Amino acid sequence: MNPTATTDIRLSAVRGEIVHFIADPAHDAHALEHFADGLLIVRDGHVAECGPAAELLAKLPAGTPVADHRGKLILPGFVDTHVHYPQTDIIASHGEQLLEWLEKYTFPAERRFADPAHAAEVAAFFCDQLLKNGTTTAAAFATVHPASVDALFTAAQRRRMRLITGKVLMDRNCPDFLRDTAASGYAESKALIERWHGRDRLLYAVTPRFAPTSTPAQMRLAGRLFAEHPGVFLQSHLAENRGEVDWVAQLHPEARSYLDVYERCGQLGMRAVYAHCIWLDDTDRRRMADTGTAISFCPTSNLFLGSGLFDLRRARELGVRVGLGTDVGAGTSFSMLQTMNEAYKVLQLAGQSLSAASAFHLATLGGAHSLYLDDRIGNFAAGKEADFVVLDPRATPLLARRSAACATLDERLFVLMMLGDDRAVAATHVLGRPAWPRAPAA
Ligand code: GUN
Ligand code: ZN
Repeated sequence: MNPTATTDIRLSAVRGEIVHFIADPAHDAHALEHFADGLLIVRDGHVAECGPAAELLAKLPAGTPVADHRGKLILPGFVDTHVHYPQTDIIASHGEQLLEWLEKYTFPAERRFADPAHAAEVAAFFCDQLLKNGTTTAAAFATVHPASVDALFTAAQRRRMRLITGKVLMDRNCPDFLRDTAASGYAESKALIERWHGRDRLLYAVTPRFAPTSTPAQMRLAGRLFAEHPGVFLQSHLAENRGEVDWVAQLHPEARSYLDVYERCGQLGMRAVYAHCIWLDDTDRRRMADTGTAISFCPTSNLFLGSGLFDLRRARELGVRVGLGTDVGAGTSFSMLQTMNEAYKVLQLAGQSLSAASAFHLATLGGAHSLYLDDRIGNFAAGKEADFVVLDPRATPLLARRSAACATLDERLFVLMMLGDDRAVAATHVLGRPAWPRAPAA
């Protein structure tokens, strides 16, 4: 026995059925790595090694704690590439399409974030919902209020999550109580970038809500913020709803397309992420691919608001980076499993068949790749941040019954994404430590 190794308190391990991706299953038949009885060894919050338990246990220093999750699946933490934390309280609001829904439900809900105490309370609940659902990284909208950004970064920092957020920029076509100006939006965003970007696992996103709610002056300043701060993200919405697309065409007769409005203002590029992207043409898709701009596919939201059916096959054929987003509160679930479920159905309607492997890849390594974070998260390669989720295929009587009848791993993954939700998440770990369920108070 090696006496120094036994006292290495930075070392721990988890044992279970491990599934992760080392490439994109759409392009590589060996992309999915599977250890039926696997071990994930964590050192100092990062992956030290991942492989068959029999092999790795033999060389694990004696005394290393091993959490036993045999009978359950261990996957990388989910990556939600588009979500709105201030819309937590309006999830499942009935009866409108995008533009009416924004006026009737969204703007009044976002108004309440002028109160920092409200923002702090919702931010804590929101982060707990993410963790309860196995999501360890998210790109989230805040509101126009800078304090709403402080509240979310603070809540995520306490939980050690990887979180991208930013102050919404909105200086026209919105209620006065949510309106900034081109100059104030620029100055407040800059101050927030200086305060938060790169602190622990927190990253800033310049966040123009969408083209209709920013003047050309504000759009140009958003592009300038993005260019002036290398490493910062930019997030917005694009071509979600037909009425919205018509409105943008009226507002910007000079532009070739909705995407072109953003491109003219310097808002495309690596780390720019656009939600929805339903009503695009191939020129748009090629520009997105050529500039490294990513799409967040938000199926539950697209169905809920009746926005349309996203064409995943075409986006991928043309080489656009794509991740999955819940888009709560237009999205109807914080669960990435339920988001995969609805992605499958949306694609069925378009004659495209999403495999379980592709769905789980989108929710993990694919999402990380779309955000240019795949060097840090998304799978269990050595050195990655050790965020993982433990999924229980017997979490409900129906899941247990259906899972028992599965012959292959592929079938079991498909059943989990179709029938699973937060009940299937037995545990979520962030940087190797349990983050959900919470340890009982001492
Ligand atoms: N477009 C502009 N703002 C929003 C929003 O808050 N949600 C969705 N789904 N689309 C938007
Ligand atoms: Zn959105």
